[in-house]
Amino acid sequence: MAKFVIQGGNSLSGEVEISGAKNAALKMMAAAILTDDEVVLTNVPDISDIRTMQEVLAKLGAKVEFSDHVMTINCSGIKDAQPDYELVKHIRASIVIIGPLIARKEKVIMPQPGGCLIGSRPIDTHTKAIEQFGVTVSLEKDLYHFTNKGLTGASIVLEEMSVTATENVLMAAVLAKGNTEIRLAASEPEIADLAEMLNKMGAKITGAGTSIIKIEGVDKLHRVEHQVLPDRIEAGTFAIAAAVSRGDVRIKNITPHHLDFVLHKFKQANINFEIEDDNSVLHIKPTTIFNHINIDTRPYPGYPTDLQSPLSILLTQAKGTSKMFETMFEGRLGYIRELKKMGADITEIDSHTIIVNGPTPLYGKKITSFDLRAGATLIIAAMIAEGESEIDKIELVDRGYENIELRLNKLGANIKRIK
Ligand code: EPU
Repeated sequence: MAKFVIQGGNSLSGEVEISGAKNAALKMMAAAILTDDEVVLTNVPDISDIRTMQEVLAKLGAKVEFSDHVMTINCSGIKDAQPDYELVKHIRASIVIIGPLIARKEKVIMPQPGGCLIGSRPIDTHTKAIEQFGVTVSLEKDLYHFTNKGLTGASIVLEEMSVTATENVLMAAVLAKGNTEIRLAASEPEIADLAEMLNKMGAKITGAGTSIIKIEGVDKLHRVEHQVLPDRIEAGTFAIAAAVSRGDVRIKNITPHHLDFVLHKFKQANINFEIEDDNSVLHIKPTTIFNHINIDTRPYPGYPTDLQSPLSILLTQAKGTSKMFETMFEGRLGYIRELKKMGADITEIDSHTIIVNGPTPLYGKKITSFDLRAGATLIIAAMIAEGESEIDKIELVDRGYENIELRLNKLGANIKRIK
């Protein structure tokens, strides 16, 4: 396992370009299964989750080429509908191959997917929804067996506004016979972008990006070239890093309205920022005093759970008492222990709620990251801490942030990777 050694205390300045969204690109790769034609994706982030998904598709029989953020996928050679057990265990997002595979194959066998250790995440919402198309689902020795005798469109109410369940149902529905309606659909911008790509392939989808999505099934999808939307979570992470370092950073290639509520909270926290250059740049400027704020994480358009942990660093630097309530994942506050070691004044009320008192100085320490977003959070903490920090298990951060240390170092950070 690699680690980062970080010398704290530098404030960030300069410009950084935001990558394509991990949580859109992964689903678009799965969508390539829906056609025998070529699928070309541009602005694909070069991160390890994307490389793992590339292997998942290749092991199934797809041809996948990836260089310079352009990915070309041809799934016409897919014979097998049993993804590699080890790979799937490694990446939870691989769950989204169920929808497109069952749309095209009679039988799909899928192990329970893995991913970050952020809480119990059963896949019942997915299986119950897919059963509505007339698919039989059974669980035998940790393997889900999906049997399809022709998918028929249905009116499906999801158990919860799950992002990946919405995407799975959407991708199964585009080739189902007749009409499908997904109610209680998740409305994240990544889902709307996936639907836009599918429509370019010949699908008939309306309402994606809202909680009711309507799909008219078609017989076949065709070739597409699609650019992945910017990663709003990466943009938010860099913005918080810039703000807490009292830096001056222009964050380029963003879609501000995907960050509406995040920016609303930034304003409440007194972060000094401006949207510039025709809405494509978030300019974080130096702030003297941060205000305490309260945050609840919610499905989009609420405050994203993936930006919960990075924001905690801002709360440690804000004047007064802040409260953060993680409504989605019960295991997503594990990093608090590490922040406390560094000097943060945080009380854990329960597995979903913390109270943060600030401002408190942070001190460099040996700390461990538990998941992708917690890892990014500890990097930010170490960058503003006094002295040197060592962060373990940096591979978890490589899952979702491309060249994070090079990009932060270019802005003035002092981060060394040690293998
Ligand atoms: N949940 C609720 N209430 C809701 C919606 C969801 O309690 O209204 C709960 C679910 O029960 C579950 C959790 O929240 O425990 C997450 O739900 P969801 O099914 O939406 O998560 P997911 O589809 O498995 C995707 C992203 C996650 C992101 C969540 C929430 C991908 C591959 N993963 O996961 O991304 O945190 O949506 O926005 O798209 C990450 O990138 O680090 C990551 C974990």
